[in-house]
Amino acid sequence: MSADACAVPVSSRYSRRVVEERDAHAELLADFRAGMLEPPRSLPPKYFYDARGSQLFDAICDTPEYYPTRLEAELLERHADAIVEASGARTLFELGSGTSRKTEYLLAALERRVAAPHYVANDVCGEILDEAGERLLQRFDQLRVDSLCGDYAAALGHLGEVAGARGDGPRLFAFLGSSLGNFEDPEAAALLTRIRATMNAEDRLLLGLDRVKPRPVLEAAYNDAAGVTAAFNLNLLSVLNTELGADFDPEGFDHRAPFVQEYSRIEMHLVARRDQVVQVSEPEARLEIAAGEIIRTEISRKFSREAVDGLLAAAGLEHEAEWSAPEAWYSLFLLRPGAA
Ligand code: SAH
Ligand code: AVI
Repeated sequence: MSADACAVPVSSRYSRRVVEERDAHAELLADFRAGMLEPPRSLPPKYFYDARGSQLFDAICDTPEYYPTRLEAELLERHADAIVEASGARTLFELGSGTSRKTEYLLAALERRVAAPHYVANDVCGEILDEAGERLLQRFDQLRVDSLCGDYAAALGHLGEVAGARGDGPRLFAFLGSSLGNFEDPEAAALLTRIRATMNAEDRLLLGLDRVKPRPVLEAAYNDAAGVTAAFNLNLLSVLNTELGADFDPEGFDHRAPFVQEYSRIEMHLVARRDQVVQVSEPEARLEIAAGEIIRTEISRKFSREAVDGLLAAAGLEHEAEWSAPEAWYSLFLLRPGAA
């Protein structure tokens, strides 16, 4: 979203390029057609993240209820040196990097280990990439940052074009925040397979995954008392209004985020508060939405050990090391590509 909205900061240690496999707007149109014209309605979660959505996600991370960020940050703070050491990398390549706040633990460890550390960040949100890049350059004076603005697949496809990130030495790939949990099994396995196919034998992948835990903890994390997650969810309607010329009324929907035991996942829903008609310009459409009808905006899976192992096996990734929070509420997995 808004990949070109911000000027690229003037610094010889920073670059940002837009990478796309398919035109981003055309992709939204296709996803809207596929998921929103008839009930049951749903959209992929990547459309949350315009500049405001990214700010709201950052605010979610600061709510007392949203434990994943804190648990992952604690693990990274404690184990960053061991992770970076085990990878042997000079370059860190992160998918869906957002503000890169937790990444700073890895970058600090990288800076302690090598003379000219290199960070390649990827996100769909250009604004957040530029903000993070500026902050990181101020903190780390030897660091070079290259940003790839576009979706995961496009970033993986273009990584080889970034000077110094072509794979002439071990690289540490990172996919944090349990963002893999926003995909159902086939898509998650396909994404991991694509990551694995981009890795050389000596590269490593650091994967952060949220784990199964008691329902009240899970549901509180996605229904924070201050209503930040609700605002994040409802912001999707503003994105659709802007991008597709729609007239969704955010007042017409409630935020809901139940834990669905059968699939071991939180589902984020927007629930229609009344019968309503929504006009959309592109694609030209008239949606008749009944009171109580649900738009599913996100799934957020909570992984059992079996689910993790199944996915990694399907993608040809092997365990090298792992670090978990108490009671295995959150885990970091360091993975290597298996024999092809
Ligand atoms: N890794 C960070 C941010 C997680 S939020 C953390 O752990 O806190 C998810 C991030 O991924 C957002 O910044 C969002 O803009 C980005 N994102 C979502 N879908 C994406 C996709 N398909 N391709 C690339 N980035 C994506
Ligand atoms: C980015 N992703 C892993 C977050 C999650 O927990 O699934 C997005 C989020 N949605 C609501 N709160 C946070």
